[in-house]
Amino acid sequence: MDRAHDIPQIITADDPAAVVLAARTLASDALVALPTETVYGLGADATRGEAVAQIFAAKGRPHFNPLIAHVDSLAMAQTIAVFEPLAVTLADHFWPGPLTLVLPVAHASGLHPLVTAGLDTVALRQPRGVMADVISALGRPVAAPSANPSGRLSPTSARAVADGLGSKVPLILDGGDCAVGVESTIIAVSGGQMHLLRPGGVPVEEIETVTGQPVIRDPSGSGKPVQAPGQLLSHYAPNAWLRLNADAVLPGEALLAFGGLTITGAHTAVAVQNLSPQGDLVEAAANLFAMLAGLDASGAQCIAVAPVPDHGLGLAINDRLRRAAAPRTAHPNNEVVLSHG
Ligand code: TXA
Ligand code: MG
Repeated sequence: MDRAHDIPQIITADDPAAVVLAARTLASDALVALPTETVYGLGADATRGEAVAQIFAAKGRPHFNPLIAHVDSLAMAQTIAVFEPLAVTLADHFWPGPLTLVLPVAHASGLHPLVTAGLDTVALRQPRGVMADVISALGRPVAAPSANPSGRLSPTSARAVADGLGSKVPLILDGGDCAVGVESTIIAVSGGQMHLLRPGGVPVEEIETVTGQPVIRDPSGSGKPVQAPGQLLSHYAPNAWLRLNADAVLPGEALLAFGGLTITGAHTAVAVQNLSPQGDLVEAAANLFAMLAGLDASGAQCIAVAPVPDHGLGLAINDRLRRAAAPRTAHPNNEVVLSHG
C-alpha cells in the first residue's frame, strides 16, 4: 500500500474517535499537531525523551529551546511545578487560556529534561478546547511548540500545519482556525513578582488589573521583554569544563561518547556515557541533558565530548554543547573547543 498519500492524516477534532486516536498516537512516542486557541502546537508526550526529541527534528530547530508543557488542569500543573500564591491567582483567573507561566520545576516532575532544556524552571499552560481533552486522555503533560518549521510563521489552521511540516507529522487534529491567532503571553513568576518574557494572547494590562500589581517589562526600561532564560548561555553550563570534538580522554576526564567511534584512553575515563551507541541523533538528543548531568555528578573536572555530526538534530546537540562549553574559556584544554565554533 502506498502510505505516502496518507501522511499526515488529518482528522476533524469533533470526530468522536479523534481524542482517543491522538492520545494513542502520543502514547506511542509519535508527534500529533493539535489546535489550541493561540496557534497549532506540535505535541509530544512531555515525559518521553524520544518523543520530545522528534519535535526538534521535525521543526528543523538548530538549537534546543525550552518548550511549553501543556496541562489539562491546575492540579496536573501542580505536580510539575512549584506554585507560589501569585501563580495560583494567575492560573485561577486565566486558565484555560493564552497565558504561560514560568515557574520552578518540581522535584519529581516526571518531565523529560529536553522539555526544560535542562533549566530549573518550566513553562506551563492549560490550553482551551480539544487539546486539553487529549492531555486528559493521555494522562500526562504534552510538550508543544508552534507547529511550524523553524523560522516560519506559526500556523493557525490544520492546512497551514500540513503545508509546513508535511510528512514530518503523522497526525493533525483539525479544530478549524485558531481563535486568538498569536502565541500565549509568557510570564515568569518568582518571589511575588511577574516578569514579561513574551507578549501574547493575554494583554499585560489585564494581568496587572487582575493581580493589582505591575508586570515588570525590562529592568533597563527599554520596553523590550526580558530575554527568556533559555536563550542565555550561562544557564546551560554544568560544573565541569567541557572539551568538545575530543578524540582522546585526558587524565581525570569523563567521556561523553557518540556512536561507535574509538576514543583513545576511553577506558581511563572517570565515567563514560554514550549518547547513542548506534549513532542515532534522535536518541542522542533524548539522552543529552541527563547524560551531561550524570557525568557532571561524577565529580570529573572536565568532560571530553566526542564529535557529533553537524546535521539533523546534531545541529541542536552541538549548539547545546557549545553553550555548555562557552563560559569555560579559561580552561587550558579548552582552547580548541571554542575555535571549532
Ligand atoms: O501559544 C503558545 O504559547 C504556543 C501554543 C502551541 O501553546 N506555543 C508556543 O511555543 O509558542 P514556542 O515553543 O514557540 O514558544 C515557547 C517559548 C520559547 O520562546 C521559550 O524560550 C519559552 O517559551 N520558554 C519555555 N520554557 C521556558 C523557561 N523555563 N524559561 C523561560 N522561557 C521559556
Ligand atoms: Mg514558535
